[in-house]
Amino acid sequence: MPFSKELFADIKKEFTVDSEQLHEIAADFRYDLRMGLKDPDLSSLRMLKSYVGLPTGKETGEYLALDFGGTNLRVLRIKLMGQGKFEILKKVAKPLKVEGVYDYIGAESTAEEMFDFIAALVDEAIDGDHEKKYLLGHTFSFPSEQSNLYDAKLIIWTKEFATPGVEGKVVNDLLKEALHRQGIDNVEPTAVINDTVAVLLAAAYKQPDTYIGSIYATGHNTCYLEPYAESADAPMIINMESGGFMKLIPNRFDKEFDAASEKPGEQRLEKMVSGRYMGELFGMALAELLGEKGKAYGFTSIDMSAIISEADKVAEIVKAKTGHDLTADDCAKVQELAGALVIRSARLVTATFVGIIWQLAGSDKVQKQHIAIDGSVYEKMPLAKENIMRALSELLGEDAAAIDTVLENGGSGLGAAIAAAMSQN
Ligand code: GLC
Repeated sequence: MPFSKELFADIKKEFTVDSEQLHEIAADFRYDLRMGLKDPDLSSLRMLKSYVGLPTGKETGEYLALDFGGTNLRVLRIKLMGQGKFEILKKVAKPLKVEGVYDYIGAESTAEEMFDFIAALVDEAIDGDHEKKYLLGHTFSFPSEQSNLYDAKLIIWTKEFATPGVEGKVVNDLLKEALHRQGIDNVEPTAVINDTVAVLLAAAYKQPDTYIGSIYATGHNTCYLEPYAESADAPMIINMESGGFMKLIPNRFDKEFDAASEKPGEQRLEKMVSGRYMGELFGMALAELLGEKGKAYGFTSIDMSAIISEADKVAEIVKAKTGHDLTADDCAKVQELAGALVIRSARLVTATFVGIIWQLAGSDKVQKQHIAIDGSVYEKMPLAKENIMRALSELLGEDAAAIDTVLENGGSGLGAAIAAAMSQN
């Protein structure tokens, strides 16, 4: 049975954000930003203080960087040479979960096991040397409440992590204890930052005029440098936890997906835009078209990327996941559907960037600046970048020329090393 034309049109509409909605979302985001600065209880943005500003670019020395924020855990030894230069001396990586072998992120694991696993990877990065002193910068990419650069308490897991015993704890204390259990007392964790903050630090280390850092990957979130204009406070990077932005109208797929997620009611924006969720939303929509509403086929954002970019592979990919043979016409519709999800995602993300840009500009002209972005969706998903640019123009008109987006690849590691260097000030 070919897809119903009406149903397809209806589903596509569900995933469309028109120009008027786009403007409203950007304005609402700016509003929540301002309210959140005053009192986070009045906003859907957590607006978490990072206790770090921008680097000077002159930071130097050898540091350890721990990048903990997705399933792939990384530890790097990085030498900062100043003037935006650095060298990666060693890099080790291991997944926190290997299907059927071990799983440190599921509800069955424990905090101790998780951090022991991390400490063992740190040990690998320093080649088992328990003498030489290292400061460690920790990119911990989950919402954390900080009272200084070291002290970050996990508020709530996101991205479907579920390890008990970490929420509410100071993560660097858990790390320190695990390092100590393994006799690694020469490594001193001194800074915790969110991955968005790491991206901003890494980009600003190399290039001035960067005030916004974003992750557009498994998860999604943005930070920016809050100037605290007309107040005595020094500029500080704020981790907005923008993935939690709520002033969006979820469609029926978003609602259904949210209800079945680890944390229903949380992370509305993130669930509508990020790589972790897009494939599943796409699969839910496709199931309706195939007359199998409710069936989960396990599509990922990588499948979507292939569907969008390789027209001749669509039939094969859909057959492998769903068992259905599609006509050429329906294959084109599947491609269009995947495209619609990516375009919605890019437009929503851009609206949040513009909310920040408007806030930073106030009544002045938009300043020339770069937005630093890291993540697989931004880097690899077809249609993402071009739709960010398009939405920037739609929202900012001529002022869009002042903004460019730059890929800050690997910012999580470099940013952590920079934060460790800055922790000595
Ligand atoms: C989730 C986390 C956030 C992180 C983002 C990207 O939204 O809550 O802290 O920055 O994922 O990794």
